[in-house]
Parts: sequence; structure tokens; C-alpha cells
Amino acid sequence: MTAKSIQTKPIEGQKPGTSGLRKKTKTFMEPHYLENFIQAIWESIGGVKGKTLVLGGDGRYFNDRAAQVILRMAAASGAKKVIVGQNALMSTPAASNLIRQKKTDGGIIMSASHNPGGPDEDFGVKFNMPNGGPAPEEVTNRMVKATQSIKDYLILEAQDVDLSKRGATKLGDMEIDVVDPVKDYAQLMEQLFDFRAIKGLFEKGFTMRFDAMHAVTGPYAKAILEGRLGAPAGTVVNAEPKPDFGGGHPDPNPIWAKELMDLMMGEEAPDFGAASDGDGDRNMILGRGCYVGPSDSLAVLAANATLAPAYREGLKGVARSMPTSRALDRVAAKRGLDCYETPTGWKFFGNLLDDGRITLCGEESAGTGSDHVREKDGLWAVLLWLNILAKTGKSVQEIMDAHWAEFGRNFYSRHDYEAVDAKKANEMMDALRARLPDLPGTIIHGRTVEAANEFAYDDPVDGSRSEGQGLRVMFEDGGRIVYRLSGTGTVGATLRVYIEDVSDDPESFGDDPQDALADMIAIADELAGIEEHTGRDEPDVRT
Ligand code: G1P
Ligand code: ZN
Repeated sequence: MTAKSIQTKPIEGQKPGTSGLRKKTKTFMEPHYLENFIQAIWESIGGVKGKTLVLGGDGRYFNDRAAQVILRMAAASGAKKVIVGQNALMSTPAASNLIRQKKTDGGIIMSASHNPGGPDEDFGVKFNMPNGGPAPEEVTNRMVKATQSIKDYLILEAQDVDLSKRGATKLGDMEIDVVDPVKDYAQLMEQLFDFRAIKGLFEKGFTMRFDAMHAVTGPYAKAILEGRLGAPAGTVVNAEPKPDFGGGHPDPNPIWAKELMDLMMGEEAPDFGAASDGDGDRNMILGRGCYVGPSDSLAVLAANATLAPAYREGLKGVARSMPTSRALDRVAAKRGLDCYETPTGWKFFGNLLDDGRITLCGEESAGTGSDHVREKDGLWAVLLWLNILAKTGKSVQEIMDAHWAEFGRNFYSRHDYEAVDAKKANEMMDALRARLPDLPGTIIHGRTVEAANEFAYDDPVDGSRSEGQGLRVMFEDGGRIVYRLSGTGTVGATLRVYIEDVSDDPESFGDDPQDALADMIAIADELAGIEEHTGRDEPDVRT
């Protein structure tokens, strides 16, 4: 087997976004596209010679082919060893765990998260650092630079490696270890949570439905929920990972997990419902007749985490991304915890976790996690909820009622306008940005603007600064509107508008957020001229 140097040229647009490089699958399949980016990853980390990496993906179309290319390129550039999930499958949190546990030099995760998969859909590649977390901007900037000057890449001429069988094998001089992607992760979960209490819950007839959405968490949920925790067979549905996720969007929200949503709102609803996304880092939580918004879920988990063995001693602090609702801040204030506000994207939590400043963190986009790995973790959130339900004996609705009674309620919703003309979206943002300095003190629909600015973040650990992280308008009465353009979309621009309002009136706690926020939603359009600029009179998705 010989390593070949292949001549290539820079390809436009190979710039990782919020979470790695995401493009149409067809783009990734174009000649040299994947190869150029992988070579750029090697450049950005000072080469791969003598290093050990983890490799896995969410099983979407092209996952298996891309894995073979990455293995041949790692071997050609002198990597010592690659630990690969069987059939090239591995959830994002499980990959983060393996990277840490095996003390490797990092890993490559092939996923476009919750975006649909297939030849006409999306694919993605992301590099995670030895701490198990996504590469920080400093590293991704080096990747971008490398893609802009690339002249050649190294790849081994070899047959495919059989990734369907577990065990050690070789590719040229490089060792390959094909591992069960579930085992180590399941063990970690067993250490964190009170499995005995959760088992007891199922023994008493507690019912649950977990929708794996034909994505990577199916095997994990089956092994943990139905295997180790004794939930009845059939608790986990859509458990087989499929290259096109069964034709759906593997995005655990009320729109894309509609079947589960309908079940939970109907007569036959089980006690608890949950779902996770393509690569297993996001989650959705439901009770009988009750949907728990991700920002609320984060606040509830923070308020009750000490019921789980791993967090018994208390939390070091908590963090949320800026657009996430400030329900978490209320918990932190009452419990005397530090609460950090970071830009969107999990990578910003990494430093805070590594530095021991926080234990728990999350985002409004259905991601929650803790210091056990350096990624958000869908099943982890589901298990922490189960642990809390088992220990309190309350239903999900009772937990929510008690939470709002203690902390008040932050009504919250995110409105997404997808595939907007990028130029128009930027014009809208530019116009609003220019007006921000004049907004404080103005009264809109009877509400006074307290502050308005563009969010920038100074990392308290490494001192780095991230600018341009979203436009926000805060009102004196506690309401807030945030506008940002997505960093993960693959077509045009996705405008995200995050709307929040607070209430301490128990009479209102049961209201539907879209109704409770009607006034703020109207203000959001008025302030930015969404319809005027984009031509859209309604968002595509409300979560
Ligand atoms: C979205 C979410 C963000 C999350 C990211 C990766 O990014 O909003 O919270 O970290 O996906 O899952 P965005 O498209 O908004 O840049
Ligand atoms: Zn994901």
C-alpha cells in the first residue's frame, strides 16, 4: 500500500460554521471536496503523525464512504491509530466521551446534526479536540486558511476496511480498532445516574416512549432504556439508524417529532416522552399532555440536578447561550450559582467546563449537557429527567408547576425564517444594528427599551473575544428580543428571532407561549421590519 500525493486546488466556502463544515451531500461528494477539508484539519492541528483519533458519524448517507476516505488519509499522513465505531456509527456525545476516556488526540465526527440526510440533503464534518469538545475558533480559522492555500493531499491506495466487524485491524501501518459505539457511553451513564431508582420506576409500571427518529441514538436508547433500565420492549421507536432518517428531519421538536407530540397530547399518552436528533446531542422532553421547552428543561435540570449521584455535591456553576431564555438565571440567582452567558454553539462552554467554572449548561435549541463530556448530550438529559422523576415521584407537569411557582415563568419561543435571501437578511440585520444605539428609552407597545446592543463575548478563561453574536433588545419589564443569522444553514440565510417575556403571575403559567408572547412577537416584527425586508409574513418554524 502506498501513500499518494494528489494535486488539488482550493475550493471556495470551506468554512466551518457553528458546528463544523456543513454542506449539501452532493457538494461533499464532489472531487477533492472532502479530501481537501480533511487535509486542512490535519494542517490545523499540526499534522496527524503518530496521533490517535476517534472516528464515527450519525449514519447518514455518505457516512460510510466518507469514513473510508478519512481512514485512508489518516493512514497516509502517519496516524498511529483510529478508533472507529462499528459500521462507522457513533453519536456525538459518545464520540466526545471516547476521545476523553481513551486519552486520544481528538476525533472526527461525520454529521449534519438535525438536518435531513440523503443524496439531496446535508452532510457535515467536525473536528473535536483532545478534551472531547468542538475545535475552537482559533483552530477552525487555521482550517479555513489551510483550505485556501491547499495544493495537494495524501491518501493511501487501499481497499475498504471492513468496519462491520469489531476488533483490531490495520490499514498500512496504522492500527484501526473497530469498537462497539454504545458500551463505554452506557457505562458512563450508569455512573452518573441512579439506575436503581429509574429501574424501580419502570418496575412500578411507569410508561415511556423514546423516538430515536431513525437516527444514531436508537442503539444507545435500546441498550440503556430497554436493556439496563428494564423499560418494556417497544419503549424505543424508530430505533434503527437509516441513511435518510426514514425521509424525515431528525430534529426533536414539536414539528418534526409530530408523531410523538400527538401521542403525548392524546388519550393514550405514556408518562414520559423523549426524542433525540440525528447525531444524538439534542433532546426533546414531554410529559403526558405537556411539552417542556428546552430553556425550561435546562432550568429544571439545574434546579434538581443534585438528585442524581453525579451532581449530589452541588453544581459549580451553570451557563447558557445568549439567546436561551433567562429561566436558568433565576435558578442560579436563587441557588447562589454563577451563571455564564456565551455565544451560540457548544464550543464556548468547553473552556468553562475545562476550567471547572460550571457543571451544567445548555441552549434553547434543545441541547443540554454537563461536565461528563464536552458536547451536548440528548440521552443524558433524558436520563437526568428520569432520575428526577424517579426521585421526586412527581409527574412532568407537576415538576413544571412546582418550578414556575418557585421561580416564575419565562415565556419563550424561537421563530425561524428559513432559506431567506442572504442579501436581504443581511440588509435587515444591518439596518437594525444601525438603529440599536437610539433604541434605549423608546417606548414600543407601552414597553420601554432598557438596552439594545450586539452581543460580544470575552472568554473569561482564555481571554479571546467573539464579536457579532446577535442583536438584542431588552425591555425594562424583563422582556427581550434577539435576532441572529444561523451559522449552520446550508441554503441562503436562516433568520432566528428569539422572543422572551417574564411572568410572576401564577394565573398565567398554563398559557401557551405563542399566545403569551403575541405582543412581543408583534414588536419583534415592528422593530426589525422582518416582513418588509424578507417578504415573509410568518416564520417557517416556531419552537
Ligand atoms: C444551531 C443552534 C445552536 C446549536 C447549533 C448546533 O446553530 O441554534 O444553538 O449549537 O445549531 O447544533 P445556528 O444554526 O443557530 O447557528
Ligand atoms: Zn445534533
